[in-house]
Amino acid sequence: RGGPVIAVDGPAAAGKGTLARRLAEALHLPYLDTGLLYRAVGRLALDAGQDPAAPAQEFAIRLQPTDLQRTDLRTPEVAQAASKVAAQPAVRAALVETQRRFAQAKGAVLDGRDIGTAIFPDADVKLFITASPATRALRRFLQLGGNQSAPDAPARIAELENALRERDNADAQRSSAPMRVADDAYVIETDDLEADAVLTKALQIVRERL
Ligand code: C5P
Repeated sequence: RGGPVIAVDGPAAAGKGTLARRLAEALHLPYLDTGLLYRAVGRLALDAGQDPAAPAQEFAIRLQPTDLQRTDLRTPEVAQAASKVAAQPAVRAALVETQRRFAQAKGAVLDGRDIGTAIFPDADVKLFITASPATRALRRFLQLGGNQSAPDAPARIAELENALRERDNADAQRSSAPMRVADDAYVIETDDLEADAVLTKALQIVRERL
């Protein structure tokens, strides 16, 4: 490979995306949000009027770069559909090569669920970013533009937490490339860390390893 591969895995809304993007910038590496691939496949299944639990590999095989640029991939509905199509081994198989090829020329930072365990078991550095469901639900709420002092805020945050927990369980319990901490991954708990502190810690780990 033309450069190092850094795997950033972890559950939904743990801060993986922010960290991975900033790591890539600091290290001058290309960045790939692999969740977008599954979201795009889930989106295409929904657009076709299909239950996302039904076979969806055709959408994965025919996935185009423009499908990843859609602005409607970040909704809770699409997240859930993504998790359903991602449980299908044929969908995962169709997306493996795209992810490996992405890192071929220059190396890359990739974030997802199975980067360190299945896509790049030989990654140069593996990070697993996590936080409690309550912290992650609050972050997602704020990210979606929520106002914490609104009367319905507690109910909406609780709803988000339930959805996150359900998706985490599905992602960790599926039989094909489940989300799990790789044996040689560094776990970073971000409950009590600001994004800057997470980046500092991750850069320390990466620089020691590269
Ligand atoms: O990271 P994000 O929340 O965008 O991922 C959406 C869904 O895509 C996840 O819940 C998971 O089911 C699936 N996914 C996956 N493997 C990856 C990245 C995402 O199965 N590497």
